[in-house]
Order: sequence, then structure tokens, then C-alpha cells
Amino acid sequence: MNTIRVGIIGQGRSGWGIHAEFLRTVPELFKIEAVADLIPERVAQSAADLGCRAYHDAESLIADPDIDLVVVSSYNATHAKYAEMALRAGKHVLCEKPFGLTVADVDAMAAAAKAAGRIIVPFQQRHYEEDFLKVKEICESGIIGDVFRIRLCWHGFGRRWDWQTARCMAGGNLNNNGPHPLDHVITLFGDVLPEKVWAETGGYLRSGDAEDDLKFILQGKGHPTVEVELANCWACGQERWNVCGTRGGLHGTDKHLEWKWVDYSKMPPRPLDLHSTPDRSYNSEKIDWQTASWDAPSAEVNLGAGAPPPVGSTEKFYRNFYKVLTEGAAPTISLEQARIRVATMEMIRAAAGIPAKI
Ligand SMILES: NC(=O)c1ccc[n+]([C@@H]2O[C@H](COP(=O)([O-])OP(=O)(O)OC[C@H]3O[C@@H](n4cnc5c(N)ncnc54)[C@H](O)[C@@H]3O)[C@@H](O)[C@H]2O)c1
Repeated sequence: MNTIRVGIIGQGRSGWGIHAEFLRTVPELFKIEAVADLIPERVAQSAADLGCRAYHDAESLIADPDIDLVVVSSYNATHAKYAEMALRAGKHVLCEKPFGLTVADVDAMAAAAKAAGRIIVPFQQRHYEEDFLKVKEICESGIIGDVFRIRLCWHGFGRRWDWQTARCMAGGNLNNNGPHPLDHVITLFGDVLPEKVWAETGGYLRSGDAEDDLKFILQGKGHPTVEVELANCWACGQERWNVCGTRGGLHGTDKHLEWKWVDYSKMPPRPLDLHSTPDRSYNSEKIDWQTASWDAPSAEVNLGAGAPPPVGSTEKFYRNFYKVLTEGAAPTISLEQARIRVATMEMIRAAAGIPAKI
């Protein structure tokens, strides 16, 4: 079996806690050859623990000739720069979210990949989250009819004072966690660019100047209207999912979903009647709801905004990614799909009047 030699830029929550932690469990697929971090103690500890080479900056890791794949898990604003640099050095790239801050970033990375004949893929492991996949399955099944509204809430409450709260680091909820719920709703929206976007942001509990409260609405003719709230300042958080269809609806959390639907074929037709009702009542009829529910099969649960992501999704992502690199399989998210997501982020910023970075 072909083992992919990996170098990871950044050894923080993501580079160490997600990528190294998983990759070390599948040495037959991926071998961690090197890690890089600006913090000397951090990279020394990682390299000792993983038994790999240590670099003190991204550039040195990228120059390492014995690496096939570079995982970019440094700060948000640096992804596109290091991804392009690694591609030009002949490496494949797995780039953490956000997959660049602008469409221009995405296009530059795609052009660099094409010129180098290498693969670049955005790390969107939450595309494999069980609740999202179940919601997608129910919506696509047609059982709740034509879906016309989707509401997704990632509510949490807590103060933060790290780099992810600062605009100079391209922090804020949209750039930080935003790519995950955005990926979910763009998929359910139909994987196209919305025609209209409304967005509003606020900053309430964070110490930096970027948003910790984000709400946006995506609209397009023939597509469900999508409403997303991604907030670290909701003490009384609402359920993650609420979906409306013409025959029923769905609601629930990452652990438990319930949906109900009506079978109109078993009910009398209701042609329009313009006369006042004889008994002065409003129209009403008994609805014979059919119901179903789902419990997450794995013990993994999402703990909300800011919590560590489930590990099972990372495994599914990486197992597919291995096939992308070795067998030419389709990536979890194609470059074209990634471009739609980043373009939507630009539309959200424009609607909310916020910059990607200052
Ligand atoms: N996919 C996910 O679920 C997920 C989860 C967490 C973080 N992330 C993403 O991962 C990235 C890193 O976030 P984090 O939470 O790990 O932050 P972090 O602060 O915990 O770690 C970032 C690390 O990168 C290092 N670094 C920065 N620039 C570097 C450079 N030029 N060369 C070498 N090392 C460098 C820093 O020293 C730091 O140790 C962010 O873009 C974030 O959005 C993704």
C-alpha cells in the first residue's frame, strides 16, 4: 500500500489535536514525517511524541523533499499563502478551513494546483457529521415534501479572548466555525450560489474586535430559504435543526431528530371556497401525522460552537482523502464546491458590512 508522507504546519488544536492525533492512528495510510510550529516548545513536544522531524516555520517544512502532503493548519489568514507555496514546491495540500478568505484566494490555489499537477482539498470533515447526513437524507427523500425553509442554530455561550476573536488574524465566527454550518446549508440549498444574502453580526462577549454573533439568510428562486445562527452569546440556545416542507417538517439536535409528515392522498381535496364559513369558524381539519425519529448511532456528539469536533468525521474524511490521493476518487468537497462556499462567505461579509481581515 502507498503510504503518504505528511508534514503538518501548525501544532495547535487543529494541527496537533485533530490532524496529528488521527494520522498517527493510521500509519499504513499516512506517515507523519514532520511538523512545524512557531512555538519552539510546542513543536519539540509534538516531534518527540510523534517521532518526526521538527521545523520552526512553515517555509522550512514546505522545503522538505521527503514530504508528499502538506496539511495547512496555521492561522486563518495564512492558509492560502502556505497552500500555494506548498503546491509550487510539488506537494499535495490539505487546507484547513477557511479555505482562503476570498474567491481570489481559491482561484489562486486552484491555479497553483493545476500548474503543479498536484491536489488541493479543503478540510471539511464535518461534512460527514451524522445529524447533517441524516437531515440531508430526509430532505432528499421527499417524505416531508418540498423543503422551503431550513433553520440551523449553533448556539453557545462563553467569553473568548484568543486570536480567533481578532480581525487582524481573520478571526470571528464566520471565518472560524462558519465554514462548517455554511457547508451544511449550502449542500442542502442545492450546492449553488444564493441569489440574495442578508446578514448581521455582533460582538458581545469576546475580547477582540471580530464577531461572536452571526446570523445570515440565504435565498434563491427554487431553493429553500436558509437561516443560520452561529453565536457564542446565546445562553438559552435553541435546537440545531428545524426544517419546513410542504408535507411536514423536521427538528432536533445532533443526537436526536424527529420528523413528521402528512399523507394528503388520504384526506379530502380542499378546493378554494370564497364564501364566509357557515359557522363563522376558520377552516380546520384533523391532521393524521405520521412520525419517525432518529438517534445518532455513534456515541459521538457535537458539543456546540467552540467545542472539539467529533473524531469519526475526521476518520471518514481522511479515509476518503487517501483514495483521492491514491485512486483518483472524488474529494469530499470539490474545488468548485469550495469556491461556492467561499463566494457565499464573501456575500455574507458584504451584507453584514464586515471585512475578512483588517
Ligand atoms: N476543521 C476543524 O474542525 C478545525 C478545528 C479547529 C481549528 N481549525 C482551524 O485550524 C487552524 C488553526 O487553528 P487552531 O485552533 O489549531 O489554532 P491554535 O492557536 O491552537 O494553533 C495554531 C498553531 O499554528 C502555529 N503557526 C501559526 N503560524 C505558523 C507558521 N507560519 N509556521 C508554523 N506554525 C505556525 C501557531 O504557533 C500555533 O501553535 C485555523 O485556521 C482554524 O480555523 C479547524
